[in-house]
Amino acid sequence: MTTESNPQKGGEEASTRAGGLWGGRFSGGMAPEMEPLNRSLTVDFRLWPQDIAGSRAWAAALGRAGVLTEAEAEELVAGLDRVAERLEDGIAGPVPDEDIHSLVERLLGDEVGELAGKLHTGRSRNDQVATDFRLWALETLDVLDRRMVELGNGLLTLAESGMELIIPGYTHLQQGQPVRASHWALSHLWPFLRDRDRLARVREAASVLPLGSGALAGCPFPIDREALRAELGFRTISRNSMDAVSDRDWAAEFLFAAALLGVHMSRIGEDLLLFSSREFGFLKISDGYSTGSSLMPQKRNPDVAELVRGKSARLVGNLSGILTLLKGLPTGYNRDLQEDKGFVFDTADTLGLVLPALTGALRTAEFRPDAIERARNEELLATDLADLLVRAGVPFRRSHDIVGALVREAEEAGVPLSRLPDARFEAHHPALGGGAAAEAFDWERSVEARALPGGTARAAVEAQLDEARNLLSA
Ligand code: ARG
Repeated sequence: MTTESNPQKGGEEASTRAGGLWGGRFSGGMAPEMEPLNRSLTVDFRLWPQDIAGSRAWAAALGRAGVLTEAEAEELVAGLDRVAERLEDGIAGPVPDEDIHSLVERLLGDEVGELAGKLHTGRSRNDQVATDFRLWALETLDVLDRRMVELGNGLLTLAESGMELIIPGYTHLQQGQPVRASHWALSHLWPFLRDRDRLARVREAASVLPLGSGALAGCPFPIDREALRAELGFRTISRNSMDAVSDRDWAAEFLFAAALLGVHMSRIGEDLLLFSSREFGFLKISDGYSTGSSLMPQKRNPDVAELVRGKSARLVGNLSGILTLLKGLPTGYNRDLQEDKGFVFDTADTLGLVLPALTGALRTAEFRPDAIERARNEELLATDLADLLVRAGVPFRRSHDIVGALVREAEEAGVPLSRLPDARFEAHHPALGGGAAAEAFDWERSVEARALPGGTARAAVEAQLDEARNLLSA
């Protein structure tokens, strides 16, 4: 991909070096060291379908505005269609073009000759790239939304399988209170549903048409921007040409939404790692999402979870990248903005890798009832014991103290809390005597007691499942 540059020839020769986009005022060719820095084609090549779509719409708009004859506009549109056919197969070999816009324009020249030079009338690569990039975002966010739904359904499948299982719930990574395994799985679903909403709002933010803004000052030809907007499928048009060519807010919002999604996926990855370890053993990640060790024959590593956790670092990094890119830019378009696509494409590609794999891992993961039962410590029910006293009229702070003392006593005696003699319970409080304490040591009763919306009771969890199912099928 090198350009024949001949500083001595100037004029004619120089004007071909960037696909003829801007060579006229230059007398020398571009320094060879400058060319690779200047070129963005390897990154922005994927924008060719959007560049063609935007250019077709622009050609038609120029025709409607009377800037081109109808015949010229039609010929340009037909030529762009032929360029699209050529680009379908990718480009073979080195090409001299700086970016996708210059490539398309050069190929259009092959198809329609000099007429190609009329397409750029009233348009700049500044409003062109802003338009292409947003068009790409609209399509990409639609695909992403489908992948988010699949991920949600994967979690839903796991949640549905855990209704009968009561696992330890944790705070500070210490056993706290029992919860249904479904409830745990759903605790990871709600963040994804929020991520999905956030991405839908990003789509709204991206759905603004910059075309017609020119390089910075707008377009002097009577283009109907509303008609362009409708043709290209944008929600609205940009209000200020200077803002339009430099506004990358939607991209930063996308990278934030994706980074937070990455944080959520990383957290579920962490839970999958912990829960699939021998020490916890609550669930098994299926073989398809695990790998072995080249040295230790017994190993079965939950790589999917680690890779998801690792990839989220890129997502966070890309957000940091674009914010840093944008923060010092002066008014209008600046070439720094060429870097925006690297961050955004990398995030989109990363999500394209991570979401399907995590979805599959969740859909095929299995809870392991035996290990869950072994791991549950009766102290998980200490709060229920305290609540028993509360129901007998004891102020909660006192019942908390009483149960704390009982836990200490059981610990010192080396017996499970429920195995303390009845007399000991009674000694701490009469309301716990006569076998009354035993009522608290019932896993099912504990989760069923929390029947408020958002709680662990079967009906409350079923309601969550229904609501989540509805949101995912909407
Ligand atoms: N490749 C450029 C970008 O991605 C296109 C716009 C270039 N504009 C310019 N005036 N050099 O931002």
